[in-house]
Amino acid sequence: NKIWVVIPAAGVGVRMQADRPKQYLPLVEKTVIEHTLECFVGHPAVAGIVVAVSDGDPFWAELMATTLATQRNLYTAPGGRERADSVLNALTYLTDTLHIPPETGVLVHDAARPCLSRQDLNKLLAAGYMEAAGAILAVPVRDTMKRAQADGAHISHTEERNGLWHALTPQMATLGVLQAALADAWQKGLAVTDEASALEYAGLHPILVEGDARNIKITRPADLALATFFLRDVAG
Ligand code: CTP
Ligand code: MG
Repeated sequence: NKIWVVIPAAGVGVRMQADRPKQYLPLVEKTVIEHTLECFVGHPAVAGIVVAVSDGDPFWAELMATTLATQRNLYTAPGGRERADSVLNALTYLTDTLHIPPETGVLVHDAARPCLSRQDLNKLLAAGYMEAAGAILAVPVRDTMKRAQADGAHISHTEERNGLWHALTPQMATLGVLQAALADAWQKGLAVTDEASALEYAGLHPILVEGDARNIKITRPADLALATFFLRDVAG
């Protein structure tokens, strides 16, 4: 039961304020996205990878012509306006172009998360195969959580922290179920910031798999230093 991996990589990285989208910035001897792909390439459970990129993305074209040129089962799909659109485009590529059956497992992972460990990936896969509703990596919230008043400046009250989690990626689901859930949420104009939220709208309750907090999303400049530290640490 091999799974397919979808990598949304069509963001522009506004908050990173760099000269290129953050997934193409240098990080420990290669680019961010090459680290991201590395976790899945050659994994025995992975059938293939579809990366959603912006139309005419020169950085992706360059990688596909050089370091990724010999990679088998690596495909490119068109990116979309929002992350969810990019993911939906990649899923459509899987069903319509590659004719992957809807009961196949898919795993969606941000291009901007280069520090995913094989251990966490395997933990998610083990849970995902057992759970028809889907599964995501997540970490429990550590700080005290405050709800702001309507003015956005004063505290209204403290939220119960117990039971609150940060949603990470990868997020795993069945191809047909996720595709239908995302398409439905899109049609209804619902806010979808991760795959699980689309599944939740469809009445499903994906399982929370506790992951490593080092699986950060590169968002702001300081995150590159953190990722460098984590990657070097993992490498010994
Ligand atoms: N993404 C995508 N298509 C979009 C927007 C985002 O595929 N239309 C991808 C990004 O490339 C990234 C992941 O979704 O790998 C998480 O999004 P985010 O961290 O918000 O990346 P950006 O949108 O690039 O950054 P920013 O919001 O700061 O512009
Ligand atoms: Mg964004």
